[in-house]
Amino acid sequence: MSQRLSPLTAPITLDLDGETIPAREGEPVAASLIAAGELLFSRSPKYHRPRGPFCLSGACSHCLMRVDGVPNVPTCRVPARAGMHLERQNALPDARVDLLRAADFVFRSWFNHHEFLAGVPIAEDVLQRVARKLSGLGVLPEKPAPGRAPAVKEEHEVVIAGAGAAGLAAAKRLAERGVTHTLFEREREVGGRLLLGLDPDAPAVWQPASDRLRAGALVVGLFADEARPFLVTVEKDRVHVIFYRALILALGGQPFLPTFPNNDLPGVMADRAVAALIRRHEVLPGKTIACVGDPAAAEALSSVVRKAGGHPVAVGAEPLRAHGLRQVDAVTVRTGDREEKVRCDVIAVCGCTAPSFELARAGGAKVAWEPRAKTFVVEADGQGRTANASLFVAGELTGPKSAGQAAASGVAAAEAIAGGAR
Ligand code: FES
Repeated sequence: MSQRLSPLTAPITLDLDGETIPAREGEPVAASLIAAGELLFSRSPKYHRPRGPFCLSGACSHCLMRVDGVPNVPTCRVPARAGMHLERQNALPDARVDLLRAADFVFRSWFNHHEFLAGVPIAEDVLQRVARKLSGLGVLPEKPAPGRAPAVKEEHEVVIAGAGAAGLAAAKRLAERGVTHTLFEREREVGGRLLLGLDPDAPAVWQPASDRLRAGALVVGLFADEARPFLVTVEKDRVHVIFYRALILALGGQPFLPTFPNNDLPGVMADRAVAALIRRHEVLPGKTIACVGDPAAAEALSSVVRKAGGHPVAVGAEPLRAHGLRQVDAVTVRTGDREEKVRCDVIAVCGCTAPSFELARAGGAKVAWEPRAKTFVVEADGQGRTANASLFVAGELTGPKSAGQAAASGVAAAEAIAGGAR
């Protein structure tokens, strides 16, 4: 039911368990598979439930596959290359008909397998060996990992991590104020959510000067316990240690799965994942897409789906249960007092985004539980100042925001730093 929204010119091919999959060079492998109608990527490590991509942003681990002999590769983060060899993991004999799925039915919710035969001599030992064979994530790589070059140490003035709405707005304001800065972005293009078409108040994407931008840089660590704070990035497989005077973290949010039965079925995706497939990778993941959850976010996604030629259903309804054997084929929803089962190819859960607060916390910022949004948020003042004087935050790290509000918070953090720099 999926389709490409533009012709596949100069296609390459990938090998998926012996099948040939056409792909566009450089697009995420997960997008290539979805475009080819493949939503079942692997099986879960314990109960062997079907797995398929949910977030398309490296945050959920639902898209892991064995790629060119390396296990547990997040295929939503890997660009397609001609001749790539992809294998589904954690299944016997294969992910489509996985006999180990029986574990999901044998170990019912009332059954505590941690205590089953525990303490019984021999039986416990045998059971553990069997469990280890049947569960787990993938198998070891065929070859040892290549050695890494030593880390590169760098000195910077102001650093911004994340080139979405907030990070771009901060960089623009720092450039206007003549403050030396460097913008790190893990994607190859800037814009983040501004590229998704979901925010009516989204400002235009501002393009930073090339000598101010480090695209393809994944921020993996933030350390505040040494003499000077520093950030650690991975760029083209090389580790960089970035010392800075001030840092604006603008890492946005990551989708989370709302709770309902079968929410882990392939075909349940975050609204931003569906929008990214359509707007960035020109792939419509299904003809009929249930846009469930937060009504405003669902309305925004339904408009993106409709413009791409898809058919949005159950817009803004509350999801009660996903249906399907190996992937979604329907959803039961509630609208007001009415419950109904709606056929669909994809269930897009809308408005379920939680702040990516972890690095800010590692860097010395305080976080707090926000009961209204039901997420942890970073504590900061109106200009993004945190408990650590050199660490500022902007955008969704402090709670849900529209793109326009995120941009405004980026400007405020930049102003706080520029004011302090004079
Ligand atoms: S990590 Fe790839 S889809 Fe979530």
